[in-house]
Amino acid sequence: MKSCVRMRGWLGGWLLAAGILGGCADPMVDQRKLEAYEPRRGRWIVALPDLPPSGAVAVGSDSVPRPPFTADAALFALGRTVHDVHCAPCHGVTGVGDGEVVRRGFPRPRSYHLAALREASDAALHEVVADGRGSMVGFSELLDPRERWAAVAWIRALQRAWSVPVDRLADAERRQLDSGAAGGRDR
Ligand code: HEC
Repeated sequence: MKSCVRMRGWLGGWLLAAGILGGCADPMVDQRKLEAYEPRRGRWIVALPDLPPSGAVAVGSDSVPRPPFTADAALFALGRTVHDVHCAPCHGVTGVGDGEVVRRGFPRPRSYHLAALREASDAALHEVVADGRGSMVGFSELLDPRERWAAVAWIRALQRAWSVPVDRLADAERRQLDSGAAGGRDR
């Protein structure tokens, strides 16, 4: 309705009068449309997509199809950036839950490295990132889907890095571990 309000002067007055007579309709708002779940009738709406669209997955469902993003180097790089900027302030860069905000009194999230989170599905992690949980806000508006799934990919990378099987370590890392110099325990 902005166009109705902004009009000034005699021309505006005439337009306003015409607007009132004509209902001052904003064609972008007041248009013929199909309400959600309204049965489809008539010829002119035949081309509308199905409601809900085929392939839609219910919110909270664990059967979300794999995200349409290949887990390549670019996705992990994006995930690291997203995590460092948006998540590390609370979860910490390694994901143990010791971010700066937490150190200043915000509720401490669980470590990503607990078995429960290592075993959680990608979809379950993504749901928390998108919709939030408890005192954590959701990021569905701030981050686009690729960024959210990239953050999930980075959580996976952190989890892998935290609990590499000993036989997959490089020799130098093995020696470091044997000497007791390496840190890293489940918290
Ligand atoms: C302001 C602090 C804060 C920020 C920023 C934040 N989180 Fe959280 N997060 C939390 C807290 C607190 C919880 C625990 C919520 C609860 O269970 O009550 C949590 C929970 C989670 C969980 C579920 C952990 C579990 O226990 O099951 C995941 C996964 C997660 N966050 C990922 C992320 C990602 C990814 C980002 C960035 C996109 C992010 N969080 C940003 C505070 C934060």
